[in-house]
Amino acid sequence: MLLSRSWSISLLLAAAVPLAECKIDRESIVRQFNLELSQSHSYSPVQVGNGNFAFGTDITGLQTFVPHNTLSSWGWHNSSLPTTPNQTSITDYTGLEWWTHDRLVNYAQPNPTEKDISQWMISNPHRINLGRIGLWFGGHNVSEEMLSGKHQVLDLWKGAISSSFSLNGTDVRVHTVASPETDTVAVEIRSDLLNNGALGVFLDFPYASGKSKFDAPFVGVWNATGNHTTTLKIEKRRASIRHTLDATSYITDIVWENEANIKKLSNYTHKYILEPGTRSNTLVFTVTYAPESQKSVETFEDIGKKATEWWSDYWSSGAFASLPIDTNSSAKELQRRIILSQYLLAVNGAGKDPAQESGLVNNGWYGKFHMEMVFWHLAHWTLWNKWSLYDRSIGVYERFLPASFERAKNQGYNGARIGKMSDPSGRSAPGEINSLLIWQQPHPMYFAEMEYRKFPTEKTLQKWDRVLTAVADFMVSYAWFNESTKVYDLGPPMYPVSENTNPNQTVNPTFELAYWRFGLEVAEQWQLRQDKPIPSNWRSIKENLAPFPIENEVYVLYEGVKNMWTTPSLAEDHPGLLGIYGWLPPDSRLNLSTFNKTVDKVYQSWNFTYSYGWDFPLLAMTAARLGDSERAVHWLLDPSNEFDEIGMPVGGTRVPTPYFPASAGLLLAVGMMAGGWDGFEGPVFPKEWEVAVEGFSKAM
Ligand SMILES: *[C@@H]1O[C@H](CO)[C@@H](O)[C@H](O)[C@H]1NC(C)=O
Ligand SMILES: *[C@@H]1O[C@H](CO)[C@@H](O)[C@H](O)[C@H]1NC(C)=O
Ligand SMILES: *[C@@H]1O[C@H](CO)[C@@H](O)[C@H](O)[C@H]1NC(C)=O
Ligand SMILES: *[C@@H]1O[C@H](CO)[C@@H](O)[C@H](O)[C@H]1NC(C)=O
Ligand SMILES: *[C@@H]1O[C@H](CO)[C@@H](O)[C@H](O)[C@H]1NC(C)=O
Ligand SMILES: *[C@@H]1O[C@H](CO)[C@@H](O)[C@H](O)[C@H]1NC(C)=O
Ligand SMILES: *[C@@H]1O[C@H](CO)[C@@H](O)[C@H](O)[C@H]1NC(C)=O
Ligand SMILES: *[C@@H]1O[C@H](CO)[C@@H](O)[C@H](O)[C@H]1NC(C)=O
Ligand SMILES: *[C@@H]1O[C@H](CO)[C@@H](O)[C@H](O)[C@H]1NC(C)=O
Ligand SMILES: *[C@@H]1O[C@H](CO)[C@@H](O)[C@H](O)[C@H]1NC(C)=O
Ligand SMILES: *[C@@H]1O[C@H](CO)[C@@H](O)[C@H](O)[C@H]1NC(C)=O
Ligand SMILES: *[C@@H]1O[C@H](CO)[C@@H](O)[C@H](O)[C@H]1NC(C)=O
Repeated sequence: MLLSRSWSISLLLAAAVPLAECKIDRESIVRQFNLELSQSHSYSPVQVGNGNFAFGTDITGLQTFVPHNTLSSWGWHNSSLPTTPNQTSITDYTGLEWWTHDRLVNYAQPNPTEKDISQWMISNPHRINLGRIGLWFGGHNVSEEMLSGKHQVLDLWKGAISSSFSLNGTDVRVHTVASPETDTVAVEIRSDLLNNGALGVFLDFPYASGKSKFDAPFVGVWNATGNHTTTLKIEKRRASIRHTLDATSYITDIVWENEANIKKLSNYTHKYILEPGTRSNTLVFTVTYAPESQKSVETFEDIGKKATEWWSDYWSSGAFASLPIDTNSSAKELQRRIILSQYLLAVNGAGKDPAQESGLVNNGWYGKFHMEMVFWHLAHWTLWNKWSLYDRSIGVYERFLPASFERAKNQGYNGARIGKMSDPSGRSAPGEINSLLIWQQPHPMYFAEMEYRKFPTEKTLQKWDRVLTAVADFMVSYAWFNESTKVYDLGPPMYPVSENTNPNQTVNPTFELAYWRFGLEVAEQWQLRQDKPIPSNWRSIKENLAPFPIENEVYVLYEGVKNMWTTPSLAEDHPGLLGIYGWLPPDSRLNLSTFNKTVDKVYQSWNFTYSYGWDFPLLAMTAARLGDSERAVHWLLDPSNEFDEIGMPVGGTRVPTPYFPASAGLLLAVGMMAGGWDGFEGPVFPKEWEVAVEGFSKAM
């Protein structure tokens, strides 16, 4: 394995101290990166949440001035179906047939003669904004500029926000925390303004939008008041509001701890006011969103305790990396990104389904998640040993298996073909790219193998057996034997990782070939570990997959690609071909000298203008595996790989902020640099950096 000059100091430091003694003072490092704001951020919310639920706040700790979103795993809505003749039901949708190796194969693509139902299936269901909670200034029109002494702290160790300001010389303090267990936000407000009717809280509810692919930064339609209903039911010290948007209906339970009143605000259809009932300078309440009313809701204090427990445990368990934040500003920025990414991914990327790229901040792609992106969203948990968060959604492969079998069968393949842009039911949205991407197929093999390395048990083998067999069956059935070359080809038609080629000409892309071999190798090992025979075609197809495409001594995007390095649209976007050494472990076909030349070529000729998100971690992992830690750090801090003041990964020209694969990818790359990989102990960081790491698993 390659070792660079630069690994020595960090490695010696970390290696010289046994893990048990190398107890990093995690709390003090985490707290150094607590958010501290003096006004609402211009775009990003400060959030509390639990992976399945997130509540975005402005400078008041609520959604007073900025209508940030409240999103969940379960809140989804369908618009009414089209009324176009013959397009009124999803069973009317037929997709498109494309020639695929001498036969017509049906792909879930928008059909021009079924435009309306195709579009409906893309944009439905869409995730809904559950509601808005803000301060109510007794009917006065107060703006953020009228507040003085604004100060807000997000305590990362406790997962809680403290906000304070004064209005007309009177102080207001707001504490905001989310339950780790239920979709509850708990709030405590202290101010003398509560005594005299000058301060209360409003709750408001928008209609669903689902009209645009990116619903950002704000989700929902506030002026379609006639399209949905809210009804208030008041009980002792609590109230519930049923919100009905067509077939979607859910409950907002509001529970308060001292005297208070709730009423609908006159002249508004969906706006409610909660005000203290007696002369009290405290208003303490919880708001729980759920499909049905919750009988009992925990108190603000209990939720605060549970959140502190959950978050301190989150930070204390699994891995940790301490970088030289006092001596090197790059190290400090990297540490900031690491800590804030860890916070944001636990809030936004740890739900019952894989995360959407914009998490629970706003709606990217209608709030739907992408099966090819599952790798980027979940892989980092395995290196950082945060298995309980990974476990929440990894069952998606098993859950979607029936739909995946169906997809393969309809196309005349064996096994199970994993879909792409998905809603919780497993239906994959129509799309030309959606239907022709293939790099999501070997992901379960990657995850299964990482799990087995950590938990080499019968249980792990059984957990993944059905999925791995089904997916491997599809992968071998998809590979097509080319009579003239006597090798198995991948595609056409297909899209590679970078989605920037003509699918009818795309065959044998470098990354997908490597990943197919990797996946089939894991599937074989899985059989062997269970003393089961390996299906004979798995091995022969793996052994006889087409070789990596090489032109002028470097690997290229796909076999036969013309002028790749000088065609602007081809040498841009995701540089997937570098993933064969870095992201993936090298396979037996990799020629390192050719690879090195390819790296040089990419560095020289790639147009990084449109690179974003996980491209930088991908490049960092390649650099790290080549021993070039300086460059790895450089990629993670590249000016185009921006993280804002809140720690949100900035999207770029093609996607809105946040784009969480950048955060998850950063943690994956750092995890690999900290924990090493097979054949290399790690860590690998710049040679002047004193680095302490603990608790990492090795990458493959
Ligand atoms: C939306 O419609 C689809 C197709 O009819 C259905 O399967 C799904 O349950 C609906 N989802 C919601 C949230 O209404
Ligand atoms: C709807 O389908 C029927 C039966 O297939 C066909 O006769 C009719 O022309 C179609 N209508 C439209 C508007 O496409
Ligand atoms: C690919 O080929 C199919 C026919 O099999 C055709 O309908 C489609 O338009 C072609 N796509 C492109 C991008 O050329
Ligand atoms: C409230 O104040 C803002 C500016 O501070 C103004 O834009 C808005 O129109 C005002 N609204 C009402 C209802 O007076
Ligand atoms: C602030 O104080 C001024 C002067 O007493 C008063 O006119 C105004 O209504 C107060 N504003 C609020 C929001 O209470
Ligand atoms: C609601 O607001 C949008 C944009 O602000 C506007 O285009 C639309 O006409 C409004 N709809 C109604 C019913 O007022
Ligand atoms: C509200 O309902 C009306 C009537 O069905 C419809 O035309 C309109 O598009 C709906 N508004 C939104 C924002 O969906
Ligand atoms: C409600 O609307 C009516 C009629 O437009 C108006 O006279 C009244 O002042 C409004 N009330 C409030 C509390 O805004
Ligand atoms: C911080 O470390 C990086 C990576 O080694 C190095 O390039 C940079 O010069 C260092 N900066 C300072 C201020 O020491
Ligand atoms: C077989 O492979 C050769 C070389 O890659 C290619 O030119 C040819 O199109 C392939 N045959 C078919 C039928 O796809
Ligand atoms: C590839 O590059 C790495 C890093 O520069 C170097 O250590 C290695 O020797 C090179 N290998 C070959 C075969 O060129
Ligand atoms: C890189 O791509 C951008 C966007 O397409 C383009 O404007 C720019 O000219 C390209 N740069 C180079 C060096 O080709």
